Amino acid sequence: MTETTTSSGGRPNLPMQGVHQPSRDEVLNLPRVHISSHPVMAHKMTALRDKNTQPPEFYRHVKEIGALLAYEATATLALESISIETPLGPMIGEQLAGGIGVTPILRAGLGLAEGFREVIPDAQIWHLGLRRDEQTLEAMEYYNQLPHRVNLQVCYAVDPMLATGGSAIDAINVLKRRAIPRLCYVGIIAAPYGLLKLSQTHPDIDIYIAALDESLNDVGYILPGLGDAGDRQFGTF
Ligand code: PRP
Ligand code: URA
Repeated sequence: MTETTTSSGGRPNLPMQGVHQPSRDEVLNLPRVHISSHPVMAHKMTALRDKNTQPPEFYRHVKEIGALLAYEATATLALESISIETPLGPMIGEQLAGGIGVTPILRAGLGLAEGFREVIPDAQIWHLGLRRDEQTLEAMEYYNQLPHRVNLQVCYAVDPMLATGGSAIDAINVLKRRAIPRLCYVGIIAAPYGLLKLSQTHPDIDIYIAALDESLNDVGYILPGLGDAGDRQFGTF
């Protein structure tokens, strides 16, 4: 959790204090934003948010929610025809046209990426490390394992929490330099503030989330949220 600093005048510096935030209703119908309405998702989200859920269970829920989100986010992927033989004869089948990339935003995106791999085992995993500075809430890149040669039809940037939107916006900026035909962002919980920022900055991507929450608190955590998604997955309290 964030510790607050004190400015020279002795007042605490709280990065979101006094910042205007849109309401949930104001961002509910943004174009290209898909909010899951699946009852199984709602059920798993409750277990995930519960403060008594311990890291092993929490990680398992992130993975399972990742698989459900992958299922929803891949519903419009392009297919191509392929000739195969069944044991009884020839037929024309279908396969995904072009590779699928998944970019987990480290570290919290790792569990989500594992969920995607359950659905698409041959997805390429492109790791991108972004750390949010707790005082300024700005994202800083510290690790990048994106390949230079790209042959994907789509890449999904995955990260459980869309708070101010800074990390998601930077991740999409990095992916845009790779000239991938289609980019998507996939998250578990979004705050209206970050969702609006991401949607306005990158109106050409699809955004898939499991839940839209109420707001950010003064230090940039999502309310009601689930706390720190990285710490809760990896037990680093
Ligand atoms: C968290 C979270 C997102 C980011 C969201 O990561 O997983 O990446 O903050 O906040 P934003 O929308 O305001 O940018 P954090 O930087 O804490 O790193 P971690 O995944 O290593 O815990
Ligand atoms: N990162 C988290 O892990 N949780 C939040 O609520 C906001 C950012």
